[in-house]
Amino acid sequence: MNKYNIISFFGFLALVIILPIYAWYEPTQRADAQDDLQNQYVTDASVIYVESCAVCHGIEGEGIGATPALNNAALQTAAYEDLFKVIARGRYGTAMTGWHDDEGGPYNDYQIQQLVALIRYADWTQIGELAAAQGLIPPTLPIPSVDPEMVAQIIEMSPETGSEWAAGFQLYASNCTVCHGIQGESTDLGLPLNTADIQSRDAEELIRIISEGVSGTAMVPWHNALTPEEIGAIVGFLQHWDEIEAEGVVLTPPEPVWVDIDDPASMLELGKRIYSTTCVACHAEEGSGGTGPALNSQQILTTRSDEQLRDTIVSGGWRPNSTMPSFGDRLTSVEIDALVSYLRAWEPTAPFVENPRGTQQGGGPPWLRTDDGATTTTPGQGQGRGNQGGGQGQGGPPWRDSGSPPGQSN
Ligand code: HEC
Ligand code: HEC
Ligand code: HEC
Repeated sequence: MNKYNIISFFGFLALVIILPIYAWYEPTQRADAQDDLQNQYVTDASVIYVESCAVCHGIEGEGIGATPALNNAALQTAAYEDLFKVIARGRYGTAMTGWHDDEGGPYNDYQIQQLVALIRYADWTQIGELAAAQGLIPPTLPIPSVDPEMVAQIIEMSPETGSEWAAGFQLYASNCTVCHGIQGESTDLGLPLNTADIQSRDAEELIRIISEGVSGTAMVPWHNALTPEEIGAIVGFLQHWDEIEAEGVVLTPPEPVWVDIDDPASMLELGKRIYSTTCVACHAEEGSGGTGPALNSQQILTTRSDEQLRDTIVSGGWRPNSTMPSFGDRLTSVEIDALVSYLRAWEPTAPFVENPRGTQQGGGPPWLRTDDGATTTTPGQGQGRGNQGGGQGQGGPPWRDSGSPPGQSN
């Protein structure tokens, strides 16, 4: 073989080997680049969606009330131009206004393209997470803020009882919507309360249910979190909800908020806000304990890792019949991180609590324990430190939940 033959042989070899590799590689590379772009579009659009569209179409595109769902196959396969057009121009005569800046809306071509990509390609369960990861915390918990004008309007309804109803309305908004819904329509955690059945019930009966709770359910007793006057006010509100609604006073879903997720102070602030609306009924102010254990206690904070705290918040209680709800699909991971950092911040000053376990497990402060003999403290029952007693909920690590009747452990 002369040297030209050798060169052309290797040239040929190179062609035979490299061309197919290239031919295979190039399109995948292009597809990858396309995927990246698509993901970037969807990520950017999640913020726009949470800010502007979720109030009507729902945080997971599930549709709210009469507003159609967007998370459906028909829209995923709809023509690009049709989707672009409906978002840009809106639908005349409906609540769906035009969002393009040509129509007086806030978005340009590029942002509308991103929204189209979101509707076609997004995993809807991730929209809240995607937005939260960029600091826009979606209103995952239905805790509405009450407009002073609404309050004034309710007070005006009746000179005698208007201000009581208004107080009840506000208390309902901040304490009960998580489980019973903004319109009292219920969520997967509670029952509907805005019903003719509730309105026709005896006030005394409703007061009793709210004060004492429904044992073994997430409906905990409220008598230690709310005064009798406050509970009376809520019942007054519940029994006149239809009239109040007829005046056009309805709670609206909360707005999303921006949080600087890299700033520990704003994460703490977020954690505190969620805690004080969502956890306080069971774990009390400053984590001092009630139905649920005292979280602000050396016993819990020094023995639980962040991961363990997080797991309980995500998956709920681990004891049979625990009332600790799971929040994994109700809060974004950013919100759960914020809660963990809020609890963790108590650690340096956390007291040693005689009996950190909640009244549900026979612990908790004595004045909250039910006096049925099963949970009151009797001497020698391991009242006190750590796992000495091991009896019916009198101290001891939670995984050693013996369930034995009082006194038997001795
Ligand atoms: C004030 C409430 C409201 C807001 C905010 C809103 N929409 Fe709508 N949207 C509607 C209603 C109502 C319809 C149904 C209109 C009709 O009757 O055809 C609709 C229809 C749509 C449709 C067509 C659905 C179909 O099945 O044909 C799309 C797509 C859509 N909206 C996207 C968006 C996007 C994206 C945003 C945010 C930029 C948004 N919407 C914000 C109320 C709203
Ligand atoms: C952590 C979730 C949760 C919260 C918060 C909550 N509830 Fe409940 N509530 C429930 C559940 C679950 C039930 C159903 C209990 C049962 O199975 O009987 C219920 C039942 C009720 C009932 C009886 C309904 C009926 O049809 O018998 C009333 C009244 C009620 N709740 C009022 C309230 C009020 C008022 C508040 C706020 C102060 C509140 N709830 C907060 C979960 C909750
Ligand atoms: C309806 C009552 C209730 C609500 C609301 C509630 N918890 Fe709990 N929580 C409990 C109970 C009861 C336990 C005890 C665990 C068990 O029963 O398995 C518990 C346990 C815990 C623990 C585990 C403590 C340990 O021993 O490791 C953490 C952490 C916690 N809750 C955090 C929260 C946070 C944060 C919220 C608000 C997002 C919350 N809880 C809301 C009732 C509640």
